[in-house]
Amino acid sequence: MARSYFIHTFGCQMNESDSQRMGEALARAGWRPSAAADAADLVLVNTCAIREKAEDKLFSALGRYRLLKARRGTRIGVAGCVAQQEKDNLLSRAPFVDFVLGPDHLEKVPELAESGGVETDFLDTEQYLFPQADPETSRGKATAFVTAMKGCDNVCSFCVVPYTRGREVSRPYAEIVREVASLVVVGVREVTLIGQNVNAYAGGCSFADLIRRVAAVPGVMRIRFTTSHPMDLSADLVRCFAEVVQLMPHFHLPVQHGADTVLERMRRKYTIAQYEERIASLPEHVALTSDIICGFPGETEDEHRQNLEFLRRTPYDNLFSFLYSPRPHTGAILKLREWGEVPRALGIRRLEEVQGLQMERTLRRHRQRIGSVVEVLVEEPGFGRSRENWTVHFDGDAGSGDLVRVRVDSATLVSLRGAQVETVDRAPRMALKRRLTVVSA
Ligand code: 5AD
Ligand code: SF4
Repeated sequence: MARSYFIHTFGCQMNESDSQRMGEALARAGWRPSAAADAADLVLVNTCAIREKAEDKLFSALGRYRLLKARRGTRIGVAGCVAQQEKDNLLSRAPFVDFVLGPDHLEKVPELAESGGVETDFLDTEQYLFPQADPETSRGKATAFVTAMKGCDNVCSFCVVPYTRGREVSRPYAEIVREVASLVVVGVREVTLIGQNVNAYAGGCSFADLIRRVAAVPGVMRIRFTTSHPMDLSADLVRCFAEVVQLMPHFHLPVQHGADTVLERMRRKYTIAQYEERIASLPEHVALTSDIICGFPGETEDEHRQNLEFLRRTPYDNLFSFLYSPRPHTGAILKLREWGEVPRALGIRRLEEVQGLQMERTLRRHRQRIGSVVEVLVEEPGFGRSRENWTVHFDGDAGSGDLVRVRVDSATLVSLRGAQVETVDRAPRMALKRRLTVVSA
């Protein structure tokens, strides 16, 4: 009988997409997916290194999988950003791990699962080939991630990603367009173009042109992208929000802090005035979201006040805020002593102030939507997302891939709830039917 694998994924959309590619590589080598870690012959943990907490999660998961190994001889692999950051050190920290692979070696997972070992070298830009998605994995799903580029050439002083994901490499646009077309054939309606710094895309055309090319694929209903650096935002990309009907009106454009002096220490390459000028150029209907870091080294009470003032005047639709976490191989960790660490309790107090401000605003905005009608692409029965990327739960008979209108009748901090009032466009049933055949075969 075929051996089975289970992948436990932490972190961002890039990791989710990498896990899919690794699952596909294992399937090609004769492995089959297992619904639970307890029943699998191989457990692969795809890790995130962005904050210390993410790393802690890896080690507590590994603690559990170690017991499985003792009981059933399960093989254990570690992939992703912690694998890349720790390389063979991981084997001394967790000697029961059989193999370690960095994000440049997704295709090698079946080989490493047999041989064990460590594979974490970066490939030269010219050598790197993006793994091709197997569209069958997405059959019948409404949404899919499509890799546009990988890596990051910025040097933000808090961020480990340039170390774990290497230099920017863009995927040729023809490959991306082909992948999008193959996903539409199996029923995908919405694609999210992903990359650590996706708007720095340079795979033979500009990022704005890539969006236009993807929009020209027949059957693509919605396009999103993530994540972006404010300095790589072009006027042409701004125009896309107004001109490309399939491009959804949501833009995640992390600011990280509201004080110029902190932005400078973070090496973000812009001032708040420049950031504000850029967001002012966006069409009004675009829902803007952002990330904020509190307690960055040397953050003074006055800088924190500037941060709150900036947030008060900036109408973010949603905000993700984090407590600064010192990361290895970053600029800020070298300056920690010079700039001065913000005491943890103070950092948490500031974070709570930022979160309090945003929570109140998000809840108010959500409540304002009660009574309105929003367009939802259904991802699962009773659940989907609006054009602005709001999470919507609803009562109605629509199925995955249907585009419906929902009247909002209640709201919480995290989602809207309502009733389906109209079907705008049904999912092509053929795609769904074929999926059922595959499942029962
Ligand atoms: N500490 C806290 N937050 C961080 N982020 C990135 N690195 C760190 C760090 N060292 C946040 C940034 C980024 C988001 C994905 O995670 O806000 O935009
Ligand atoms: Fe985490 Fe960043 Fe790696 Fe994604 S790219 S898994 S967010 S460290």
